[in-house]
Amino acid sequence: MRKAFHGNLLYFKADPNLDSDALVHLPNHVLMTKNGIIEAVKHFAEVTTAEKFELEWHDYQNQWIVPGFIDTHIHYPQTEMIAAYGEALLEWLEKYTFPTEMKFDDPNYAKEISSFFLNELLSNGTTTALVFGSVHKNSVDAFFEEAEKRNLRMICGKVMMDRNAPEALQDTPESSYKESKELIEKWHGKKRLSYAVTPRFAITSSPEQLQKAGRLLKEFPGIYLHTHLSENKNEIEFTQQLFPKAKNYLDVYKQANLLTKKSVFAHCIHLKDEEWNELAHKQCNIAFCPTSNLFLGSGLFNLEKAEKMGIDVGMGTDVGAGTSFNMFNTLNEAYKVTQLRKGMFSNESKKSLSPLKAFYLATLGGAKALSLDNKIGQLNPGMEADFNIIHPAVNSLQKLRMKSANTIEEQLFVLQILGYKENITATYILGEKYKLPHDFEK
Ligand code: GUN
Ligand code: ZN
Repeated sequence: MRKAFHGNLLYFKADPNLDSDALVHLPNHVLMTKNGIIEAVKHFAEVTTAEKFELEWHDYQNQWIVPGFIDTHIHYPQTEMIAAYGEALLEWLEKYTFPTEMKFDDPNYAKEISSFFLNELLSNGTTTALVFGSVHKNSVDAFFEEAEKRNLRMICGKVMMDRNAPEALQDTPESSYKESKELIEKWHGKKRLSYAVTPRFAITSSPEQLQKAGRLLKEFPGIYLHTHLSENKNEIEFTQQLFPKAKNYLDVYKQANLLTKKSVFAHCIHLKDEEWNELAHKQCNIAFCPTSNLFLGSGLFNLEKAEKMGIDVGMGTDVGAGTSFNMFNTLNEAYKVTQLRKGMFSNESKKSLSPLKAFYLATLGGAKALSLDNKIGQLNPGMEADFNIIHPAVNSLQKLRMKSANTIEEQLFVLQILGYKENITATYILGEKYKLPHDFEK
């Protein structure tokens, strides 16, 4: 099936802070797809008469056509406990997170929440995510089944956790190895699904379990590693007590051979220089989760440092510590994190997060952090046709404000700060419009 989408194409071909030509803005262009893959991009004037007749035509003039958003860190079992009051990380885990995650031993419940979660992501224009399951193997089966039904490119893994958590949520080094392996064999590489070996964080895994995680990475090359790193000061202190021989937090993971090009570490707020160097050296990736970091009071991620070190960064919503599934909201809070750093640390440069860099991080930046930039994140021929149609002004305030936004950069900034899910007027997966179930309210 060949289709044509007529609108204003907008995407990034590089990091706009490193390449002044990175933004690709193509007004009055047509994105052509064939069987879910982008076939061509042309100016409307270059479309042939035959193409006008042969292709299924979709008119989105005056709207933007942008790549689907990519969320590089999120927990699907925490959907229902988003907005839990008053605690920092370790207390929040104990009081709210662990009791909620216990419910996922029920496969029917896991299916119900997986479905809700994916609809919520899609209603916010996020088409690919790196997702934590719960400790229960069936939670990941349920998630992949729902993702497969929707033809999504998704990455997920079963939490590995054998200590410092309620008994009902603990596995063992052996059972976590066995169950992860079974899930990898069943799901990794099936359609658009990939597996991430997912030890929760150093505190909840014994050294033996982390070794098993490393063994899985060795046995299944190409698999992801997904965990948390250096989010909260008390977390770091407890980790040092549990691993007294480790040189630093990252060293705990290094000792278990968990540092690869396909490793994604969420947060990385309080890293020492030696940890930054090691992450760069091993070409590891970071998920920047601003709504979560502000909500839990964890700290302010140093995005500029990551850029200087050449470390790939993607945006993470980190729901349920994160407070929104929405990428505009997440980029809005990311901007404020850079503003706060500017105000608080006088020895750093005076750069605020630009709207170009922000939307780069939510698309191609995320794709690079997940080693998927050959498939998603841009609107190039040969890539998978996952994209959003965005109306930059859908309410009175946005319309008023956009009147005086004269450049594409300023328009993107207004969207970053004032945008809602309502600005996403359609989301396409492999060239097919995603239809939310009739009872799902956007
Ligand atoms: N560290 C370990 N587990 C979690 C979690 O569920 N959320 C966040 N934000 N940090 C964690
Ligand atoms: Zn998290």
